[in-house]
Amino acid sequence: MAVLEVVTFPHPVLKQKCEPVTRFDGELHQFLDDMAATMNDADGIGLAANQVGVAQRIFLMDVPTNRGSGDKDVKTTGRIEVINPQITGQRGELKYEEGCLSFPGMSEFIMRAAEIDLEYQDRTGKACKLTAKGLVAVCIQHELDHLNGITFIDRLSPFKRKIALREYLRQNRDVIDDQAMREKLKARRAQQNVG
Ligand code: CO
Repeated sequence: MAVLEVVTFPHPVLKQKCEPVTRFDGELHQFLDDMAATMNDADGIGLAANQVGVAQRIFLMDVPTNRGSGDKDVKTTGRIEVINPQITGQRGELKYEEGCLSFPGMSEFIMRAAEIDLEYQDRTGKACKLTAKGLVAVCIQHELDHLNGITFIDRLSPFKRKIALREYLRQNRDVIDDQAMREKLKARRAQQNVG
């Protein structure tokens, strides 16, 4: 299992609408294992494939289901691999303070459905269904948004988004400059057909 690089905003792959998975083969299984290692390493509760640069309709989650009185007492859903997901029902409203591995240091209150029905496929291609509420429902909606090229700041009012982005860019200037620089070099190399 390999830990993959998590891309951060404003990487263009975060704006990309991801493609459905059609092959449920060894290559997919390897990728899912690498995503799991990456999510663990980053201490995330959810991770979408395009956050590691792969624009396919896949996300992973492992969400706390109780708060616990200490780290040891936290129960989770266990790792759930979600492929080609579709929300088929939603009820109620829930405001939750969300974070995102692609926006280091940022957290914002976002309004979501309180309960959702989800249909998806597992790593073997088998059709699965689940109903989720609370933080699990929030996580599913956040990750599914990623697969449609939508990040949580897109759910803020224009005014709140502007303030949040200004603070994010200020805090992450070094990281972002490096990443933008790497992308530029990559594009230039591709143009020159070297490496
Ligand atoms: Co996210």
